[in-house]
Amino acid sequence: MTIVVRPFDLADTESVVSLWQTAGLTRPWNNPYQDIRRKLSVQPELFLVAADGRTIVGSVMAGYDGHRGWLYYLASAPDRRGEGIGRKLVAEAEDRLLAMGCPKVQLMVRPENGVARGFYDSLGYEPFETWNTGKRLIAD
Ligand SMILES: CC(C)(COP(=O)(O)OP(=O)(O)OC[C@H]1O[C@@H](n2cnc3c(N)ncnc32)[C@H](O)[C@@H]1OP(=O)(O)O)[C@@H](O)C(=O)NCCC(=O)NCCS
Repeated sequence: MTIVVRPFDLADTESVVSLWQTAGLTRPWNNPYQDIRRKLSVQPELFLVAADGRTIVGSVMAGYDGHRGWLYYLASAPDRRGEGIGRKLVAEAEDRLLAMGCPKVQLMVRPENGVARGFYDSLGYEPFETWNTGKRLIAD
């Protein structure tokens, strides 16, 4: 496997949006182009893609808020699952967070996403119970 994990480049935009769509990560209330634009203004070096040559085969969007590291938009291409792409992306995100002094990384998984749960279990992530709540500050 010749997968390279590197920071997102603007030229990756269409490939990444299409990856998110095929991986089922887009939601009607999240404009993926807007999400990319925002991420490029905050810790863009933590927005990573996995590239096989010129083909984008995975992505992860990480962030460190000074207390916890967070992972979003983890995906590997549907026809490239089980090759270690997801593991490689998470490892690189963890390395970059750790280098910033981040003590713990966590993420939210939708309850119906058993695949993501199995994946993160096998990477040693430990589930914990929270009541998630949120408030939109900008109506997109
Ligand atoms: C979750 C996802 C990124 C995993 O990517 P992947 O490239 O197939 O994962 P890897 O090949 O790196 O697998 C890493 C480990 O996870 C395990 N794993 C992967 N999918 C699994 C599953 N469904 N159940 C249990 N274990 C799983 C693998 O067996 C592997 O373990 P090993 O290295 O000990 O053999 C991929 O399934 C995906 O893109 N899903 C759709 C998007 C999504 O749900 N993202 C997460 C949002 S929270």
